[in-house]
Amino acid sequence: MENLVRSGKVRFIGISNFDAYQVSTLQINATIKPAVHQFELHPYLQQSDYVDWHQALGISVTAYSPLASANPTYGHRLGGPPSLFDNEEITTIAERRGCTNAQVALAWGMARETSVIPKSQHAERIVENWESRRCNLQKVDLQLIAAVGKKYLTRFNNPSKGWDVPLYEGLDDSRI
Ligand SMILES: NC(=O)c1ccc[n+]([C@@H]2O[C@H](COP(=O)([O-])OP(=O)(O)OC[C@H]3O[C@@H](n4cnc5c(N)ncnc54)[C@H](OP(=O)(O)O)[C@@H]3O)[C@@H](O)[C@H]2O)c1
Repeated sequence: MENLVRSGKVRFIGISNFDAYQVSTLQINATIKPAVHQFELHPYLQQSDYVDWHQALGISVTAYSPLASANPTYGHRLGGPPSLFDNEEITTIAERRGCTNAQVALAWGMARETSVIPKSQHAERIVENWESRRCNLQKVDLQLIAAVGKKYLTRFNNPSKGWDVPLYEGLDDSRI
């Protein structure tokens, strides 16, 4: 990957789904620091210390699945949290700020200086998600979302079992 940067074929190196040990190993061995690390982040999986650590290292963080369990690919996790769109606390915040629940989740992601990459195949939702930039969350909202994260801590994307590779070691909700 570093050779691709040196030869001008790519501008930056990005990583995804690394645990802290893997990021540290790169830090020690790589000549070119990764520009960005993409991992699962949403109000139900906040990983705030991990985000802060990357930001201190100068590695940008991209939040994938920023709408939590919205993608049917992940199925319904038995005993898992309600959909973000039905979540009582998120709905309260959405109503008081004149936003939708999706916009609250995305605005929260941007407020913590991560980039958010929601996926939708519906034009009106893509516009709605884009407009989350106008959802102006206040401190009290961020505090409530922090509490939501503690209450419902859930990682949705964990293919460790199917791949027979332990992923996310030492990170929040890394159970298989
Ligand atoms: N690096 C990795 O390992 C990794 C893993 C997972 C995902 N990703 C990436 O992350 C991005 C998003 O991931 P994701 O699809 O898992 O999660 P997501 O964006 O949080 O959720 C997508 C789901 O939410 C629905 N949705 C989108 N906007 C909505 C809105 N405003 N209101 C209601 N429903 C809405 C979409 O339905 P419709 O499409 O029907 O509108 C879709 O089912 C993708 O680019 C994906 O490739 C990366």
